[in-house]
Amino acid sequence: MDRTIRRVTGNADARDWYGVDAAAAATDHVGLPGDPLEELLPLLAGSSSDGRVELWLARAGGTPVAVTLLRLPVHDNRTVAALSLRVHPDHRRRGHGRAMLAHAADRARQHGRSRMVAEVSAPLSGGADAPGPAFAGAVGARPVLSEVRRILDVAALDSRELVRIRDRAAEAAAAYRLLQWVDRAPVDLRDDLAMLTGRVTTDSPMQELDWEPEVWTAERYVAKEDETLARGRRRIVTAAQDGRTGRLVGYTDIGVNASRPEVAYQWDTVVLREHRGHRLGTALKAANLLLLRQHVPAAALVNTWNADDNTHMIAINEALGFRPVDRWLEEQLELPAGPVAAPAG
Ligand code: ACO
Repeated sequence: MDRTIRRVTGNADARDWYGVDAAAAATDHVGLPGDPLEELLPLLAGSSSDGRVELWLARAGGTPVAVTLLRLPVHDNRTVAALSLRVHPDHRRRGHGRAMLAHAADRARQHGRSRMVAEVSAPLSGGADAPGPAFAGAVGARPVLSEVRRILDVAALDSRELVRIRDRAAEAAAAYRLLQWVDRAPVDLRDDLAMLTGRVTTDSPMQELDWEPEVWTAERYVAKEDETLARGRRRIVTAAQDGRTGRLVGYTDIGVNASRPEVAYQWDTVVLREHRGHRLGTALKAANLLLLRQHVPAAALVNTWNADDNTHMIAINEALGFRPVDRWLEEQLELPAGPVAAPAG
């Protein structure tokens, strides 16, 4: 078969890449469309605030059939490549997935990576034969982290009830203040936010996923904010400040595509271990949902992912009305050692 795999660097190929990604997302996920095209375009330059980014498109007989987005972190986790791989629903079971994976593995090895990680989804129960887990098993990957995605029907929430939840929780956290903003954090909070973002990777359950603690500085945090805005995303944030020291002890943020505000994504939530037990998690999340409704009234759904063993976070989410939709597995694939050609492009 006449299959080609090419790096996506121009807008025309990006549109085809988007077409495959969107068709796969619509088939595979409820309430979770792929990223809008305009969010992809800034990635074509090949980098993000976290590292190098490559988009690849496979065509068969000229028709776009499979896509990958390969992320190569530079600040930490420099032996890992994070992969998103999707095959158009009309072109599955013809070897395109396997061919694209082999290509991505070569690229990852050329960049000095010794393993890849990728997410697959499945129904809540009995999902072993869903395409993602079946494919992952067939190519020798191993599931290392199990999460459930939950959706909140934010449009149906009663704001007065959210205010009650926030205020009741805040009573138990009287030593703390909630701070809120949209898009860019106040300059004097950047160092604390960098520290807290790093803690997300040490304090969240990782199960068997080999992921080093991430290294965050104020500069990296600002670069992430810049990138979020450049990609047309809004960031809705609530943070908790210790009234005794003035330091931030936790935060939560929700991301929204500006061009598709109906679907929102819960990004990070963290409360430092030494400040847990004061209902800060509940106060942060309820307050941030209120901020979302205020600034993005079109938001209808919020998606969130929690590891099965993250029992406190799950209890908070369920109390707010989040309901399970599907299961997500992080799959880890070790790459063979050995000589490999230097990367081109
Ligand atoms: N049921 C059972 N086994 C499957 C299925 C399925 N639906 N799909 C793939 N496989 C297994 C089979 O062993 C298959 O070999 P065979 O057809 O000779 O029996 C093998 O995987 C290779 O299949 P391909 O034809 O190369 O895969 P395809 O082009 O259909 O793409 C993919 C598979 C990528 C999982 C596609 O269904 C998809 O885009 N799913 C949504 C996104 C996703 O889950 N991506 C995988 C990320 S995991 C990773 O990259 C390591």
